[in-house]
Amino acid sequence: MNSPLILGIETSCDETSAALLSGRDGLLGHVIHSQDIHAFYGGVVPELAARAHLTRMDEVVEEALRKSGHEREDLDAIGVTAGPGLIGALLVGVSWAKGVALSLGIPLVPVHHMEAHLFAPSLEDPEAVPPFVALLVSGGHTLLLYVPAWGDYQLLGSTRDDAAGEAFDKVAKLLDLPYPGGPAVQALAEKGDPKRFRLPRPMLRGNQTPEDKSYFDFSFSGLKTAVSNLVLELSQAGSLDQERPSVAAAFQTAAVDVLASKTLRAVKDTGCGRILLGGGVSANGKLREEISRRLGPEGSLFVASPRLSMDNGAMIARAALYRLERGETAKPDFSGEANLPFPNLRNRSPGGPASRA
Ligand code: KG4
Ligand code: ZN
Repeated sequence: MNSPLILGIETSCDETSAALLSGRDGLLGHVIHSQDIHAFYGGVVPELAARAHLTRMDEVVEEALRKSGHEREDLDAIGVTAGPGLIGALLVGVSWAKGVALSLGIPLVPVHHMEAHLFAPSLEDPEAVPPFVALLVSGGHTLLLYVPAWGDYQLLGSTRDDAAGEAFDKVAKLLDLPYPGGPAVQALAEKGDPKRFRLPRPMLRGNQTPEDKSYFDFSFSGLKTAVSNLVLELSQAGSLDQERPSVAAAFQTAAVDVLASKTLRAVKDTGCGRILLGGGVSANGKLREEISRRLGPEGSLFVASPRLSMDNGAMIARAALYRLERGETAKPDFSGEANLPFPNLRNRSPGGPASRA
């Protein structure tokens, strides 16, 4: 297979997405259907997500094929998110992909959702390739990695409790904002004064050294509790309504400060001035701005456009292309896995080489 045509399928959470990627011509057709049913419940309802994927699957794939000008029979391989994610949602995509790959007699390539987020910026920018320091921030994960080459993933830090996106979603709820919380908090924060309230920066202290595990690790649950206490206080004082934008701004500033500080620590420790941001939270304007400012003009920052920062089939197809080129296809007993481990992940000792995780 010289320049294969790959169909990428994503159904790990609340986006049903399909994309056609050609090894030679790039992205040919891409459809992302965001399920709106969850906004009504203020969060993703797993059973409803699985049902909605099932209802939309065929339609989304047909539309992506139509846009690409290809037919199912032209496909050389199918890449599908194998995990991590909601198991019912994952199984819809995996079962669909297994069935279609089998009927067409083409290989199926399992893809790790978070590894795929690493590939998203390279769909738009050929320079967005390793080596880089990667900050992966989504609704379920917060990972700080050093990636010297594709497939070599060295773990510097991760969250000890809530993920960064989860913190945005929980704070949005405290402020009566709709789900998903990230974009709503960002929009409200623009109208507020970030300096009006000072919120804690968990796990960020000036006296930490790279030898401390907390030097690169994150924690967001204490920050969420601090927001919750502040909201209660303001509500009792009768000033919550007018202060809401400043609470959002103070929270966003604190979260961004922690994320940017740890990412820049990783740059210092690895000596690599190339940063890649991935996952839904990387759509946050303040996060992009702050990291870019602290990195300075000598460094390079790679972030996908908002459409490719969110969950999408294009990044799944791109990661599948990488795995396919290495001959990695699904075993017959392959299935979706809610807690699928990150492939080839090793712990990186500070300033030094990596050891097996
Ligand atoms: O990667 P993603 O689309 O799905 C998962 O794999 O989880 O990330 C979704 C997360 C949600 O928590 C959402 O609130 C957050 O990304 N998010 C944002 C922004 N846009 C999406 N967080 C902060 N600022 C944003 N602009
Ligand atoms: Zn994601």
